[in-house]
Amino acid sequence: MRDLLAAVTALRERLADIPQADERRLQDLKTEILGRKAGALTKILGALPNLSPADRKAVGGAANILKRDFEAALAARERELASAARDPGGEDLTMPAHAAWRGGLHLVTQVVDEICEIFRELGFTRAVGPEAETEWYNFGALNFPKDHPAIDAQDSFYLGEGVLLRTHTSPVQVRTMERYRPPIRVVSPGQCYRRDPFDPSHSPVFEQIEGLVVDEGVTFVDLKATLSAFARRFFGPDTATRFSPSYFPFTEPSADMQVSCSVCRGSGCPTCKQTGWMEILGSGMVHPAVLENCRLDAERFTGFAFGMGPHRIAMVRHGIPDIRLFFESDVRFLAQFAGGSGGAP
Ligand code: PHE
Repeated sequence: MRDLLAAVTALRERLADIPQADERRLQDLKTEILGRKAGALTKILGALPNLSPADRKAVGGAANILKRDFEAALAARERELASAARDPGGEDLTMPAHAAWRGGLHLVTQVVDEICEIFRELGFTRAVGPEAETEWYNFGALNFPKDHPAIDAQDSFYLGEGVLLRTHTSPVQVRTMERYRPPIRVVSPGQCYRRDPFDPSHSPVFEQIEGLVVDEGVTFVDLKATLSAFARRFFGPDTATRFSPSYFPFTEPSADMQVSCSVCRGSGCPTCKQTGWMEILGSGMVHPAVLENCRLDAERFTGFAFGMGPHRIAMVRHGIPDIRLFFESDVRFLAQFAGGSGGAP
């Protein structure tokens, strides 16, 4: 019984020797003392039934005090660790890690790239032009009459006398024909600006993709065949196209192209307003006056041009009801179209 008491005292001394900060040694000692099979205290407590009642009380009491001290030392150590974690000066190891976000291309960027890629396969190259344009390139060279309402400052953002933010990408037609000789086959994506309200179907800033083909012997058949081929590649092989008369100062004749609704396949739905058709672009044969403004012989060369709005095309393809969603940078909206390359994890 004396031996047992001496053993308990020796263990208490060893506990007192361990600095509280040394958790490793505390844990090791815990196993050594309280281990369920070979723990020293476990053995001592196991020997209790063999002792006389008085000895049992003495050894049992000392063993219980050791156990209590031990538990208190462990609890104090745990409190120390927790307060270190909360210390604003140190790293908080209990904070959850940040979720990793990956960026993705905006839906409109994806649509622009996809359209330009289809035209690249059809033999077109890409052209670019400035967003700040002169009245001549934006209107005059494109055969707008001087009193055309679009020239009015009410519809355009003027930067100064005769200089404005382009209202469409058609000035790139003129710049391209001035610079390059036929055969010409280009598409030109870019930003355009108009004094429009910011409402579900208008934005004062919007994207357009211009197209231009000029060569000897280009006819309206080429226009229809090229644009129908594009529509089938973009909206699917079963897509039907139809052309209706339209008007633009710089094309004659002019035509709007409609495609069978890609959402309902022509049976009628809210996206196509129950008509089964969606209008996606304006087009026409390049007006001879425009060719002459670019010093091309209109007797020898003919061409066709087209212009489409990628925002609108993205809206009709995905049934998106409001153009403003594209400009609000709401990741909940954008991540739906991140195409597997981006968005929230
Ligand atoms: N520029 C015209 C528009 O903004 C579109 C267009 C381009 C029409 C080329 C015909 C040819 O509406």
